[in-house]
This record gives sequence, structure tokens and C-alpha cells, in this order.
Amino acid sequence: MDNPSQPVRIAITADLHYDPTGYLTSPSQITAMVEQIAAEAPDAVIIAGDLGHGRAVFEGCLACFADLPMPVGVITGNHDVWSDRKGGYSSLVLWKQLLPGVVKDAGFLWLEEENLYLRHVAVVGSMVWYDYSAIDPGMSLSVGEIATQKMNLNNDAIKIDWPYTDPEFARILEAGLVERLARAAGSDAVTDILVVTHVPILEEQLVRKPSYPQWAISNAYFGNLTTGHKVLAEPKVRAVVSGHTHVGQHGSVRRVNSRPVSYTVVDSDYGRPEYVIVEL
Ligand SMILES: [Fe+2]
Repeated sequence: MDNPSQPVRIAITADLHYDPTGYLTSPSQITAMVEQIAAEAPDAVIIAGDLGHGRAVFEGCLACFADLPMPVGVITGNHDVWSDRKGGYSSLVLWKQLLPGVVKDAGFLWLEEENLYLRHVAVVGSMVWYDYSAIDPGMSLSVGEIATQKMNLNNDAIKIDWPYTDPEFARILEAGLVERLARAAGSDAVTDILVVTHVPILEEQLVRKPSYPQWAISNAYFGNLTTGHKVLAEPKVRAVVSGHTHVGQHGSVRRVNSRPVSYTVVDSDYGRPEYVIVEL
């Protein structure tokens, strides 16, 4: 029974990397985490991307959440849209048709399309794509050089086969996120917004290792600070939770003339799925 004086509690997990062979994260490890989440009885659960590569694996990960009684929202991560040569699916087909259909058929919410409303709270989600804005400030590389470097530093370079450049795709996802954010903020019933993304969007969520040049460049593929600035401009945003880096982070960002925003990166790693609970 809803009690308006109680906070809304939302569990968020990410980077599950479901793998029936057990090499990455085994089904039993994910099921055990889902049982823990169920015991906490949150108002909703969000899966924030990198469920697993390939349709069957992605579906297998979703199935671990099938018995939860509360709403489950899903966003994808970069691994989920890796082209699937065995299944014959391109990244574009996975992104535009297959994965949204699989999520909806499982009875879950495709957050890339619609917001989740829980009393005074709206959950607004997007995979978010990196646009190179998060590269370490000391690195003076052109956009073309960063795109070329990706071949040496990040498997997305060979696994993603859609026709967009990274900055192009980042702007497409950003436009959708900004539109859904405005829709949520425009509702009088909504006082607090939780933004969930796969790719981190705030400087505070990133890890800087100035003495490690490869890491300094790899940050170009770990975040999108341009989208983050737009999210922080919305006063009703109270919390941002992301995944992707596998490096847990938590804290608070101050804003001028608006309430602070709490930020988190879910601390999952291969073989060690984690979740956080956000209360609003
Ligand atoms: Fe990722």
C-alpha cells in the first residue's frame, strides 16, 4: 500500500554481463542478487545496461528478474548493442527493433522511450553514448584522432557496426533524454527526478588517472559530460545513477540556486553483480 509520507525507493543495478558459461557473471550470481533486491522490496528496479552480448544472453539476464512483483525498467549498454554475427543481428537492428521488443515482451519498461512514474518521483533513463567530452582535460587530440585511437583501446570499435559516429549517436540519444526529462519536469505531480544512464554523465562519476595516458584517452569512451550539463540544468533532478566503468562512485554535486544532486556509479564487476537503492 502506498504511503505518501514514505520515500520512494528504487533499486538500480548495471553491468551484469550475464554469461551462462560462468566466465563473466554466472546466472546464479545474478539470481542471488535479484533475491537480495526482492528482500528489500523497493518500489521499482532499474537495469542500467550491459546485460549481455547476443539476444539469447540478453534474454537470459532479463529472465532472472521475471518474478519481481514491482515495475522493472531497462536501458541497454554498449555491450548489448554489439553486432551479433551468429544471430545475424546488426547493432542498428538490435538497438532499434530487437532489444526494445525483447524488453517489452518480458513485461518490462523500455526507458529509452517512456518514463517511469512512482508517486512524486519520475525515473528518466537512457543508455547515453560517449561523445569524447570526458577525455582527460590534458589530452589535446582531435575528434578524428580520438575515433582512430578507439581501435586500440575499446572493443566497441570493432563490435558496433551502425553508421553513426560516436558524437552523432550521442546527440541522438541526448535529444531523446532531454525531451523525456522535460516531460517529467513538466508534470506538477513530479517533484523529484532520478536520471539513470549506462554511460556516466558527470565529472564526479569518472576516474582520472593522470599518469596513465591510455586511461586518459579511454575516458573519451567512458562518459558524456555534454549530456550531464543538460541534466544538471533541470532543477527537479535529485539523483544520477550510471554504470559502464565498473568503478563504484558516490557523492553529491552542488548546484547554484538548485538542490544538490546525488551521483552514483554502480560498483558491479565481472562475477560480482551489485545494486544500489536510491530513496527520494
Ligand atoms: Fe558499458
